Amino acid sequence: MVKDKNFLQDYIKVWDDGAIKDAPFITLGLEAVLTDYYGNLLDAPPPFEVKPGETILDLGCGWGRVLKPVRAITENAVGIDISQQMLIAAHKHLQHHNLPTPLVRGDGTVLPFKDCSFDTVYSLLVLQHLSKENGEKVIKEIHRILKPGGTAYIRVPSRFAPENLLMAFLQRISIHIFRYKDPIKMRFYRIGEIDTICKPLFSTVEITAHEFRPPWNFHTPWTWHYIIIPQRFHKRLRVLSDKVEKRANSKSPWLKHFAVTLMIKVVK
Ligand SMILES: C[S@@+](CC[C@H](N)C(=O)[O-])C[C@H]1O[C@@H](n2cnc3c(N)ncnc32)[C@H](O)[C@@H]1O
Repeated sequence: MVKDKNFLQDYIKVWDDGAIKDAPFITLGLEAVLTDYYGNLLDAPPPFEVKPGETILDLGCGWGRVLKPVRAITENAVGIDISQQMLIAAHKHLQHHNLPTPLVRGDGTVLPFKDCSFDTVYSLLVLQHLSKENGEKVIKEIHRILKPGGTAYIRVPSRFAPENLLMAFLQRISIHIFRYKDPIKMRFYRIGEIDTICKPLFSTVEITAHEFRPPWNFHTPWTWHYIIIPQRFHKRLRVLSDKVEKRANSKSPWLKHFAVTLMIKVVK
C-alpha cells in the first residue's frame, strides 16, 4: 500500500486500537454514539439492492455493520479489511447473528482475489482514509475483480459540504501548525476527479449525493467540538435534508457538490 513501513504500521494500529476500544465509534464518529440523526447507523441496510446468491465483496468491512444485512440476503458475501481487530469484531458480530461469513485480511490497493470474481463490490467510507493515489489503486482493483457487467458502489466524502470544508480546514491546522500526525486523516473528493478516475475504466459512472446535514459536528485529533442538535429537531431536519437530497439527485445536480457524501455507482 505504501512504501513507508512505519506509516503502514501506524495506519493499521489506529484501526486495530479503535476496533478493540469501540469499533462503531472509530468507524462512524461520535454522532453515531450520541445521536440517532440518521437512524439505522449501527445496523445499516445496504444503500443499494442486493440479490440472493450474488457474489459480493465489502471492501473495508469494518465490524460488519453493512456486511451483516448483506450476508442475510446472499450467502456469497465476503468481507475484507486491513485491520485484524476489525475482522475479529466483524466475526463476533456476524457469528452472533448466526451469519458465518468469510473474512479476509488484506489491503484494498492489492486485493487478494482473482480477476472477474464478484458480481458486486462495495466500499463505504474507506477511500477517504487513503491517499488519492492509493484511492485510485483501489478503484482499479475493484474494476479488476468485478465480473463484466458487475457493479461497484463506493462512498466518499465530498469536497464542498460545509461540514467537510470545516473539517479539512481544522485538519490542516492540526497537521501544519500543531504538527499532529494523523495516519487516517480524511481526504475529500470532487465530482470532477471521480469522473477522471472512473470514466476511462467503467462503462457507466453515476454519482449521487447524500446527507445534506448542517455543519453540526466537526472534530480534529486535538479538539472534539460537537454541536449536538437536540433530538426533537432531528425529524424536521431529516425531512429537510431528504428534500435537498432528492432535488440534488434530480432537478438541481449542482447541489450535489454540497452533499456530505457521494455515492459512486460504476458498472464494468
Ligand atoms: C470508516 S471505517 C468504515 C467501515 C465500514 N465500511 C462501515 O461503513 O461501517 C474504514 C474501514 O476501512 C478499513 N480500511 C482502511 N484502509 C483499508 C485498506 N487499504 N484496505 C482495506 N481496508 C481498509 C479500516 O480498517 C476500517 O475498518
